[in-house]
Amino acid sequence: MSKIIIANFKANGCKDFFNNWFSDFKNDSQNQILLAPPSVYLDFFSQKKLNFELCSQNVSEFEEGPFTSQHTASMLLDLGVKSCIIGHSESRKLLNEEDHQIFEKFQKLNNKKIRPIVCIGEPLEIRENNKVKDYIKKQTEKFHDFEEEIIFGYEPLWAIGTGKVPKLDEIEEAAKTIKEFCGENKKILYGGSINRSNCRDILKLKEIDGALVGGASLNPKEFAMIAQSC
Ligand code: PGA
Repeated sequence: MSKIIIANFKANGCKDFFNNWFSDFKNDSQNQILLAPPSVYLDFFSQKKLNFELCSQNVSEFEEGPFTSQHTASMLLDLGVKSCIIGHSESRKLLNEEDHQIFEKFQKLNNKKIRPIVCIGEPLEIRENNKVKDYIKKQTEKFHDFEEEIIFGYEPLWAIGTGKVPKLDEIEEAAKTIKEFCGENKKILYGGSINRSNCRDILKLKEIDGALVGGASLNPKEFAMIAQSC
């Protein structure tokens, strides 16, 4: 089964950087490649008519209106965006996003048939105190009664951009926990310090359907190695 591999460029890049990235990225895999540029470059990516799915890094919880700095699900649709990350820990932290707002975003995307990628993940003290299961239960609460397929990004906060990665059995356990609460048909991507050396083992895990790649996606050759490792 093909996996979902997302390049989350975060707030990095410029037109020249991305043009070079496109020429250096060679993909021979059958996996689904999603590119998530900063929102101001979504249209630039869209106009390139690339062979990869365009993914947004966030969306407004509102339909439209006086919400300065926001972009809505209809605007994403207008640009040809097919999927959208929501609830990323950096957005939760910087924009004070809460679970109920993330659920609103989820619904707005569903209404426009854009695939939401719902990010969740525990801080370090939760893992150290063996409370991961309760934490995941709470963070996914609003999705427990959803029968449709949902894509979750499991991204432990302490693993994002730190070079630290959970043990393979911890990743597998977290994925099983999400499925226990939300249903077996859910897809789980892993994110947090994925790179060319650790990707193969992580993507081999039975419960893992793909990866969210931050830092390592800025290097097109390394991102290609990750995309081709499974
Ligand atoms: P990282 O980021 O790969 O740089 O840890 C992953 C993410 O935040 O999606």
